[in-house]
Amino acid sequence: MNSNVSNKLAEHFRAHLFMCTNRRPDGHPTSSCAERGAQDMAEAARKIFKEMNLEKTRFNYAGCLGRCGQGPVLVIYPEGVWYSVKTSADIEEILSLHLREGKLVERLLTSVEAPQV
Ligand code: FES
Repeated sequence: MNSNVSNKLAEHFRAHLFMCTNRRPDGHPTSSCAERGAQDMAEAARKIFKEMNLEKTRFNYAGCLGRCGQGPVLVIYPEGVWYSVKTSADIEEILSLHLREGKLVERLLTSVEAPQV
């Protein structure tokens, strides 16, 4: 990434996490992250995130992020690292290891081979 671009990103946030909490209407042919518990997980994770009080870091709920087949998903920028989570504990692990210690949580990374939608 061009250093001017990365410097611009860092002016506001060191890390910015988006978690999909999208819910599709009943009967829709594509599943959604909310059907798999994303909203409850995101609310629990956001509380933990606030308690961690990480400097220049933000947690936002998001609409569909285009990886419904692996949902619930979250992405952390500026790195653009994607995670697929099943429990609140998964998110807590990501917050602790990725955001606080700068380590990837390999077991939760999304797969480029898996269905995206
Ligand atoms: S509904 Fe969550 S990524 Fe599409």
